[in-house]
Amino acid sequence: MTPRIGTVSLHSPVVMAPMAGMTDTAFRRLVKRQGGCGLVVTEMVSSEGLVRGIDRTLEYAEYTEEERPVSIQIFGGDPSKMADAAQIVEGMGADIVDINMGCPVPKIAKHHAGCSLMREPSHAASIISAMAKAVKIPVTVKMRAGWNEHDINAPLLARMAQDAGAAAVAVHGRTAAQSYSGESDWSLIAHVAAGVSIPVFGSGDCVEPAQIVARLRESSVAGVLVGRGALRNPWIFQQATDAAMGRVPRTVPIEARGQFLLDYMDLLIDERVSEATGFRHTAPGQSDGPPPEARGRERWVINKLRALGSWYTKGLDGGAQLRVSINSAKSIPELRDLITKFFVSS
Ligand SMILES: Cc1cc2nc3c(=O)[nH]c(=O)nc-3n(C[C@H](O)[C@H](O)[C@H](O)COP(=O)(O)O)c2cc1C
Repeated sequence: MTPRIGTVSLHSPVVMAPMAGMTDTAFRRLVKRQGGCGLVVTEMVSSEGLVRGIDRTLEYAEYTEEERPVSIQIFGGDPSKMADAAQIVEGMGADIVDINMGCPVPKIAKHHAGCSLMREPSHAASIISAMAKAVKIPVTVKMRAGWNEHDINAPLLARMAQDAGAAAVAVHGRTAAQSYSGESDWSLIAHVAAGVSIPVFGSGDCVEPAQIVARLRESSVAGVLVGRGALRNPWIFQQATDAAMGRVPRTVPIEARGQFLLDYMDLLIDERVSEATGFRHTAPGQSDGPPPEARGRERWVINKLRALGSWYTKGLDGGAQLRVSINSAKSIPELRDLITKFFVSS
């Protein structure tokens, strides 16, 4: 069954999880092109930055038509600013606006945003409610299991979110205190799903297509979010679809893996060009995006390749060496050359 989030129907229940620094528009487009991905979510975007129209904040919210349906995730702790930010997101034409209630990073949590909202469920509900009243597009919430092992309140918060107008929730089954240690608690996720009538998406530790299929069959969730698994294997969505249909998951030729990185680099370079021509779904602003000068642009592309490379090379034969080479490359032509050589000659 294909899930619906409010008025938005997804052609696949397998969704790409939001990942700051990783799920930029270039990566999302390439993932969509490989097939099987029902929804993409942007990196988290500051509500404050959106409302103030700070240059670069909106770069995080950019998307292209081929990514649809697209959900823009925002973070913040002030109900009226979050409502205003939701309206900006709606004005940008996004299909869904998602609220980050899962980020454990102190920089975010200290502003009563991210996962710290799970410690203040009534305040969290007032944010959801303000946003749901302000926009017509579905408002969704991404949360963790709870703040820590003594305060596992995802089932309660999901019910409150539903009552406040959320169209769906996603649950990463770890607490903020756990960060990424231990395992995602899928029995808790199932418990959340049993307590609400809106769709619940589960998140955590689905790194193989077979795991995605098993979670979809066993956990009574409407869908599964794939995060780190997609950074290693962007074909995982299509492979999971194959497995769900009883087909052998497709194999990915090594050259296609290399081409993915080359295409990623090209899209990142193009993006800087389209910025100049204004062809993007942006409104007028985050503070560590790419600087405008050419050398800065090249450095930005290199840093982006390094970030993806640190995940993408895991599990590849010779991957550790490739990672070292990517990390020491000083220019785009050097990167292109070493990627081509590695994937063609391996
Ligand atoms: C590098 C990275 C960045 C992330 N950034 C976000 C984010 O911006 N917003 C969010 O809700 N979750 C974020 N997450 C959490 C993921 O969406 C996901 O819930 C978590 O990684 C567990 O799923 P996985 O085991 O499939 O990776 C991030 C995870 C990673 C690894």
